[in-house]
Parts: sequence; C-alpha cells; structure tokens
Amino acid sequence: MSEQSNSESAETPKTDLEISLRPPDFTEFAGQDKVKERLILMVEAAKQREDALDHVLLSGPPGLGKTTLAFILAEEFGSEIHCTSGPQIEKAGDLAGILTNLKHGDFLFIDEIHRLHPAIEEYLYPAMEDYRLDIIIDSGPSARSIQLTLPRFTLVGATTRAGMLTAPLRSRFGMANRLDYYPAETLKGILIRSAKLLNVAIEPEGAFEIARRSRGTPRIANLLLRWARDYAQVKADNIITASVADAALQMREIDADGLDETDIRLLEAIVYTFSGGTVGLSSLAVAVGEDDTTIEEVYEPYLIMQGYLNRTPRGRVATPTAYARLGAKPPQELQNNLPL
Ligand SMILES: Nc1ncnc2c1ncn2[C@@H]1O[C@H](COP(=O)(O)OP(=O)(O)OP(=O)(O)O)[C@@H](O)[C@H]1O
Ligand SMILES: [Mg+2]
Repeated sequence: MSEQSNSESAETPKTDLEISLRPPDFTEFAGQDKVKERLILMVEAAKQREDALDHVLLSGPPGLGKTTLAFILAEEFGSEIHCTSGPQIEKAGDLAGILTNLKHGDFLFIDEIHRLHPAIEEYLYPAMEDYRLDIIIDSGPSARSIQLTLPRFTLVGATTRAGMLTAPLRSRFGMANRLDYYPAETLKGILIRSAKLLNVAIEPEGAFEIARRSRGTPRIANLLLRWARDYAQVKADNIITASVADAALQMREIDADGLDETDIRLLEAIVYTFSGGTVGLSSLAVAVGEDDTTIEEVYEPYLIMQGYLNRTPRGRVATPTAYARLGAKPPQELQNNLPL
C-alpha cells in the first residue's frame, strides 16, 4: 500500500502516548514562532484567495514537530491529508496512483522526502509546478507518453536532511522551513500540557528538570515524562518534583546536560580511541556500534549544538568542552584555544 488517508502508517510506529499528545492546532503547538507565523500567514492568504496552499517543506532533526505541523496545516486548511514517504514510492506508477487519487485542495505529505528515488523526483517536478503528470508507459518502440492533468494539491515534504535534497526539488517548494531545537522553557510548557492530558501530577520545577535534559526535543520530553511518571508512581508519591525527575533521569543514565549513554560513548571514542579526531563518520559508527545515519541525524546535531563536537571537512573533532565533560586533559593545541 502506498497511500493512506488521515493515518500515520507511513510513519515509523509511534506510541499511542505520542499520538494523543500531538497538538491539534497552531495555538497548542508551542514554540517555533517564526515558522508558525509564516505558515499561519500563508494559510490565511491562500484561504482568502480560495486557492490551494503553496507546497511546504519542513526540515529538522527527528521529533521536533514536522509531522505534527503537516497535520495541523491540513486541519487549518480543512483539507484531507494523504500520507506516504520517500522510500515507499518505488515506481513512477506508485506516484501516479497517489497523485491521481488527490482531490482539489488535498494535502500530500511525503515524509523522508530526501529518500525519493531520483527518477521519481523527475516526475514530481511538473506535478508540483504545473499540476501535470507526464508518464511513459511501455518501453521500446511501443513506448508512449501520456499526460494527465492533476487537481491543485499541496505537497508537504518533511526531511531530517534538508542538505540532501536536490536543488531542483527544493526550489519547487513555496516555502522551506527549518525547525530548531526547543529552548528548555518552551519544553517545560509542552510538558505541563502533556502532564495535564495524561493526568500526571508535576511541579513546575520537575517539568523544568525534564525539559532541560530532553535534548531540545518534544518527543524525547514526552517520553521522559512517561518514564518520570512511572518512577514517581513506584518510588515517590506520584508527584514529579525536581528531585524525583532528577532521580528518574539518573536511573536512565541521562546526565545533567541531557547527554545519554550513547553520547558519552561517542565522545569517549573520539577522545580516547581516535585521540580527539579528526575521525570519519563510518569509523566512529563502527567504534560505538551504531548506525552511521543515526549518528549523523540524531546524536551529532545535538552534540555540535551543545559545543562538544565540531564537524570539519576532514572529519569530527572533540572540543575542549568534550574533554572537560569526560574529565580528560585536552591536547596542547586545544588548550591554547581555551577561552580565558
Ligand atoms: N511544538 C510542539 N508542541 C507540543 N508538542 C509537540 C510539538 N512538536 C512536537 N510535539 C510532540 O512531539 C511528538 C513528535 O513530533 P513529530 O512526530 O511531529 O516529529 P517529527 O519532526 O515528525 O519527527 P520525525 O523526524 O521522527 O518524523 C508529537 O507527537 C508531539 O507530541
Ligand atoms: Mg515525522
């Protein structure tokens, strides 16, 4: 099956918890103010003109709200949303099937759009630009090209790797939006909302403690909230205070800065195994027994943002902060660069 309506089955399986906590509209979607403002304006303008919404690209690390925003957009626009993902569209025929099923104003959500096959991308260009699909059927002397006119639809593309999108595809989106990691204060608000929905007692300080250790990511914050709830239920009085949250997170080996066991193993590998770097992604992946893509998309961006790691053209290097975190002595050349 390559297409579903109003369903999430094109996604990696998500817990019930996550689905029920998904904000249904812009007012409940916390943070990302600039992106939100632009999208709200776009929706309003298109509605006034009674036109279809321009194609929208949403990029950013996992768990920051790309899928959520796609659903909110469709909801605000009163449109039906059809979901699929880059790797699911294997043949031109799959894409033709999806596109010809759309009605005027419908949304097509393509998750992991950077993983679309290049040949399929070519078919998508005229579909996005001119609402036209040129497909070639048969091959050899009997090959024929047929042209289909499509209804005006809105493509919402989501990607964790905006840099991997080809320039022609990227340029066909009316607007590209990058979601950033959330500040702890915003995550605290998200956690308080989630706790209410889940009927969990949490003190503001408890919410903040979880928030600042959630790698700036709402999905992680909600998962840790559930863990803290379990912990409070068994070990405390069912209330998540700051110290209960701290103890719960310590039990999961999540440190005060939100780094987990894998982050620490990554830093240790660079500092000790590879003498601080530079080290290439694949060597690093082998050293810590993780998948390249996971390191690149999930772990590295956060470590870079927090200043533990630098990415140079020759590979990854540990920063003085990484040495400090491990209690190791940085090499002389790094010490000279330390801030006074
Ligand atoms: N701005 C927000 N306010 C409140 N909750 C949020 C927000 N953004 C995300 N969430 C919560 O985090 C969960 C994960 O978000 P979502 O599935 O939209 O992330 P994603 O960017 O699509 O991730 P992936 O790249 O893994 O597909 C949502 O189900 C929701 O509960
Ligand atoms: Mg998603």
